[in-house]
Amino acid sequence: MQQESTLLARRPPPSPDVLSGDDDPKARKSASSSFFPAAASAAARSASGGFVVVLVLVLLVLLLLFSVVFSRPRSVVCVSPFESLPRISLSGADLDGLASDFGSLGVPSCRSKHEKTVEWTSKDLLKGLEEFVPIYETRPIKNNMYGMGFDHSFGLWFMTRWLKPNLMIESGAFKGHSTWVLRQSMPDTPIISLSPRHPEKYLKKGPAYVDGNCTYLAGKDFVDFGSVQWEQLLQKHGISDLSQVVVFFDDHQNELKRLKQALKAGFQHLIFEDNYDTGTGDHYSLRQICDQFYIRGGGHSCFKDSDEARIRMKRTKFWEKAVDIDELCGKGEAWWGVRGHMRDNFNHSNKAISYAEHFQNSRFVESVLDVYWELPPVAGPSLTHQTRYDPARAPDPIVEDGRFGLFQRLGLTRLETSVFNGYTQMVYLQVSANTA
Ligand SMILES: C[S@@+](CC[C@H](N)C(=O)[O-])C[C@H]1O[C@@H](n2cnc3c(N)ncnc32)[C@H](O)[C@@H]1O
Ligand SMILES: *[C@@H]1O[C@H](CO)[C@@H](O)[C@H](O)[C@H]1NC(C)=O
Ligand SMILES: *[C@@H]1O[C@H](CO)[C@@H](O)[C@H](O)[C@H]1NC(C)=O
Repeated sequence: MQQESTLLARRPPPSPDVLSGDDDPKARKSASSSFFPAAASAAARSASGGFVVVLVLVLLVLLLLFSVVFSRPRSVVCVSPFESLPRISLSGADLDGLASDFGSLGVPSCRSKHEKTVEWTSKDLLKGLEEFVPIYETRPIKNNMYGMGFDHSFGLWFMTRWLKPNLMIESGAFKGHSTWVLRQSMPDTPIISLSPRHPEKYLKKGPAYVDGNCTYLAGKDFVDFGSVQWEQLLQKHGISDLSQVVVFFDDHQNELKRLKQALKAGFQHLIFEDNYDTGTGDHYSLRQICDQFYIRGGGHSCFKDSDEARIRMKRTKFWEKAVDIDELCGKGEAWWGVRGHMRDNFNHSNKAISYAEHFQNSRFVESVLDVYWELPPVAGPSLTHQTRYDPARAPDPIVEDGRFGLFQRLGLTRLETSVFNGYTQMVYLQVSANTA
């Protein structure tokens, strides 16, 4: 187990200037170049061509804005069985948000019951980043391919540290990187880790992390989260207050299934690592469930000549995980989940669901949600050089494009760029069983 005391000693004292935004404001304005990393780097290479590139970019942005304004009637094309539902219509107030969302795709999110939100602010996140970077640099598993990268490691560390749980449960440990992250955030809090393969198995081949104060339900002791006798197990740990337990899921199971299991056991704080966007991923996610016509950025058109089709096509050229209409839409113009399917268990199960069922799922989720908060990416793509996820489908980053000075002061330039590629909208949920 990592010695927290040595880690604390190694952490540099927070420098007061690190968060004061003294970046060049002009650099910030040029953030638009991050829409198209290829064009941006071309501009950087040729100074003389810079003007032309800027002109082309401005034209592209105008074009995008134009298509945003005229794309909204898309729901007319994709007639849903819930056509009569109240829907957020495009009013003047929406335009701002859409513009900053880079087009008509937008960023959907789940509605919570009382519009409650998290306590932490973006300033808290920045302070957290400054503290976390040096910790992350001491991670035992440097190459965590197939596991968590920097963004989600930070999110998990930040949230558990903020929530100060009396117990942390994780489902899906792999080599133990996330267990290590949990231990860094809460040095004295017990952990229960569920994973079919014990992380110690990986130690034979290379770096792995096995925690000294963790109960492993792994290897021959493995039990799936949904089959654990939680009341008994928690009693054994002396935990009676479930409102202070944090459960972290990184097990690639249908998140609706996990949510129901967690509610049944009485857990209230849930973090899902892989909150895949519609049309992507190997399990049904909260993000997919809440992607509905009445949510801004939600509901989709499978019409080949739609603005959405054009924009999606364009974005697949820049972002590996962006999906075009052909990929998004399955038989019968089914776009929800993944091509009208509810995937589960690393896509070992792939069940077709009707739109009606998908819609009911979102209603259920909304009825138990007190808070839904997606972790923003740590920094814009022009800073991290990530090329995988489309920023148009993610919340605004903690460190905005153009703020290189801040990015550097936080120590983020010291990290390999590959650690920024794993972002998939990690989400924190606060839930309570619907007793109405
Ligand atoms: C993406 S990896 C987890 C990565 C890890 N959290 C990290 O920090 O890098 C998914 C893990 O889930 C495990 N897994 C598969 N089925 C599971 C289940 N039903 N419950 C819990 N874990 C499961 C896999 O064996 C694998 O170790
Ligand atoms: C487990 O936690 C207790 C209480 O914080 C601590 O005293 C002990 O050293 C820890 N054990 C290991 C192996 O880390
Ligand atoms: C998921 O499973 C379905 C059905 O078995 C299959 O057609 C599809 O190619 C799989 N997708 C991925 C990414 O594995």
